[in-house]
Amino acid sequence: MKFNTKVIHAGVEPDPATGAIMTPIYQTSTYVQEEIGKHKGFEYSRTGNPTRAALEASIASLENAKFGACFGSGLAAIDCIIKMLNPGDEVISTNDLYGGSYRIFKTIFEKYGIKFHFVNMLEVENVKNCINDNTKLIWIETPTNPMMNTIDIKAITKMVSSKDIMVGVDNTFATPYLQRPIDLGADIVMHSVTKFLGGHSDVVMGALVTNNDQIADEIYRIQNSSGAVCGPMDSFLVLRGIKTLHLRVQRHCENGKKVAKFLKTHPKVDQVFWPGFEDHINHDVAKSQMSDFGGMVSFTLVGDDLEQAKKIVSRTKLFTLAESLGGVESLIGHPSTMTHASIPREERLKSGVKDSLIRLSVGIEDSNDLINDLENSML
Ligand SMILES: Cc1ncc(COP(=O)(O)O)c(C=O)c1O
Repeated sequence: MKFNTKVIHAGVEPDPATGAIMTPIYQTSTYVQEEIGKHKGFEYSRTGNPTRAALEASIASLENAKFGACFGSGLAAIDCIIKMLNPGDEVISTNDLYGGSYRIFKTIFEKYGIKFHFVNMLEVENVKNCINDNTKLIWIETPTNPMMNTIDIKAITKMVSSKDIMVGVDNTFATPYLQRPIDLGADIVMHSVTKFLGGHSDVVMGALVTNNDQIADEIYRIQNSSGAVCGPMDSFLVLRGIKTLHLRVQRHCENGKKVAKFLKTHPKVDQVFWPGFEDHINHDVAKSQMSDFGGMVSFTLVGDDLEQAKKIVSRTKLFTLAESLGGVESLIGHPSTMTHASIPREERLKSGVKDSLIRLSVGIEDSNDLINDLENSML
């Protein structure tokens, strides 16, 4: 099946009990056994639930992977990956990582003896120079949140292909519609399903997919042992959201492009970060590994004026001031005081997250209304 067919059909079968075309919400914690060990494939809903199973199969299929696992949040999915490691193991990650990923690495896992390195991954050489015998995971986020840096997945997976190092990719910003890291050699792909996959700002969820049998066994062992699973109602909502993923992301891309171009010519705007610009750092990488450039756009203001940035984010009417991204409605955020507040100022400035940086999740409304809204907020 091609992608646009998979979003409608992959993982989803008519309900065997009733023929219902939509996967029912199996709101049950347990399953009756005819006799000890004789059941219909499900025993207990932490271990497996039919609604969740359909979603896991759907997301795996979209990413061209064999195995999928869903979690209570994107961070619970990342938590599962790091739990595959042992004390003494080392992780190399990008230095403009999503703040919550940075926080779980630094404040949860570092105290269990796992070491994290944050490097500028725009240069693959920086990753290479950081690898040692203890390196067990390379954690890529691309495009990054909020600087929209694109990291060359293929170059990194190629570089470590002969080594015992897993490569994981946070594919939240791109979605499988635009970028499929498994095809580029990644071992694990992670999603904050909360964002574009859910698409309607009504669910918090995470997912992992892999093609590797051993990694899948570990994921399912940890998913069941730690128990950070999502519920059947949320699984149903995401199954429904995924059916329009291709249409939504296409419109996010179209609107994102128009908004990015508008901002680029605005006299109060200093820099605009959107991977589709030819002068955007690593634009060539974005062009080769993504089929379009997405609807996430960040920008800074002339003079890096914090107060002016605060005014803009409180003045917009259609761009609602809120954390999160990837829903049908446009959102506006101020990374340094919101999503990235957990990163020390010095660290975030190093990666370009200035005080005036504003991040937009461009929704699927009429693009003229969105541009007017931004224009009015900057008067
Ligand atoms: C790129 C990225 N990764 C991971 C996460 C964490 O996901 P969740 O909020 O679903 O736990 C987020 C949340 O904003 C994100 O933007």
